[in-house]
Amino acid sequence: MIRPATIKDVPRIQEIINSHAELGRMLFKSLAQLFEDLRDFAVFEDEDGRVMGCTAVTIIWADLAEVRSLAVDEAYRGRGVGRQLVEWCVDEARRLGIRKLMSLTYEQRFFEKLGFEVVQKESLPLKVWSDCVKCPKNDACDEIAMVLELEDVPMNTGPIAQPTPRGVSIPVLEHFED
Ligand SMILES: CC(C)(COP(=O)(O)OP(=O)(O)OC[C@H]1O[C@@H](n2cnc3c(N)ncnc32)[C@H](O)[C@@H]1OP(=O)(O)O)[C@@H](O)C(=O)NCCC(=O)NCCS
Repeated sequence: MIRPATIKDVPRIQEIINSHAELGRMLFKSLAQLFEDLRDFAVFEDEDGRVMGCTAVTIIWADLAEVRSLAVDEAYRGRGVGRQLVEWCVDEARRLGIRKLMSLTYEQRFFEKLGFEVVQKESLPLKVWSDCVKCPKNDACDEIAMVLELEDVPMNTGPIAQPTPRGVSIPVLEHFED
């Protein structure tokens, strides 16, 4: 069963993510990061109510969300849990009206099975703009950028954004009224 995460799940989510992070498969997450982002998270529970996997969907822009912190307990890998968690992310993007779902990953084959395609990181400037500039891997990122486009969700690009992190300008109000 997949359900939205609650506060009680945080230590277990951290345990699963960091068990993979220790092997270099993903980035470590602190408890503070998990509490802050908890509303983005869902967990997979087995029949005994034990959390065996997690994922998060983070909104990047009007037409882009990211699958983050996808992790399945080692004992449960290869049983379709990862697929169900990504399907939850797809449903969530659709519910929000977001057409593109991206992932930065080493698991290219897994995401290809779920319909994602490899893209150039530069084709996702808003991701690079908002997160990659803060990431310790920034200049040496070896993760593969992948995107799934939800054809049934209408295009909605939102306000025009700067094309590269170097072109960042902070929006200012043209007319300030007291
Ligand atoms: C990647 C991960 C989430 C996959 O979860 P999982 O539960 O093992 O995957 P599933 O059992 O749902 O697999 C779905 C399909 O992908 C395939 N698959 C899964 N991992 C694969 C891999 N590494 N290479 C090729 N195919 C893979 C499965 O065989 C299955 O194919 P099928 O539907 O034809 O049978 C899990 O292995 C994991 O937690 N990895 C470590 C953390 C990580 O890398 N997270 C991704 C961060 S973006």
